[in-house]
Amino acid sequence: MTHYFKTIILLSLACLTAGSTFGEDEDTPLAKEMSAMNAAYRSLSKAFRSGPNPDQRAEYISQVEIILEHAKASVELVPALANTLATEEKTSMTASYTAAMQKSIQTLEQLLAALKAEDFAAASEQLAQLKEQKSAGHQRFQED
Ligand code: HEM
Repeated sequence: MTHYFKTIILLSLACLTAGSTFGEDEDTPLAKEMSAMNAAYRSLSKAFRSGPNPDQRAEYISQVEIILEHAKASVELVPALANTLATEEKTSMTASYTAAMQKSIQTLEQLLAALKAEDFAAASEQLAQLKEQKSAGHQRFQED
């Protein structure tokens, strides 16, 4: 009987080890960068939805700086979806992803410049562009 329990315990431990090795997806480096920019993006979008408040400009600037920092770190990474493709498609998807992310970096730099110039109308336009780039980017490059 003792032997039987020992076998059960060993089998359970083996399953646990296998679970942590092959089980739930770990966050990819890109998913980590994306998650790190998400809170700043959400509060900025929320603020602009209800009309930006000029008194909060410094806060908006630091939120854009956070998003920009993580966008810059993201540009060198490869979407998990690209890693599931054959070499040629992988290369082509990675190139399109890099170009799209570079475009967003440019938009973020323009958004930052508009905020620094206290041009909230231009800032709203850049933020709207970023929102479109984000949805398009997720549609094209994010795994289901
Ligand atoms: C401010 C803009 C953006 C925000 C706030 C944002 C936010 C997010 C969030 C929250 C995730 C899920 C992370 C997770 O799975 O834990 C994600 C995933 C992802 N995003 Fe974004 N995103 C933005 C822009 C973009 C752009 C412009 C692109 C492409 C050019 C992009 C490509 C991806 C990809 C490929 C993933 C899946 C992660 C992976 O493949 O490893 N995102 N994003």
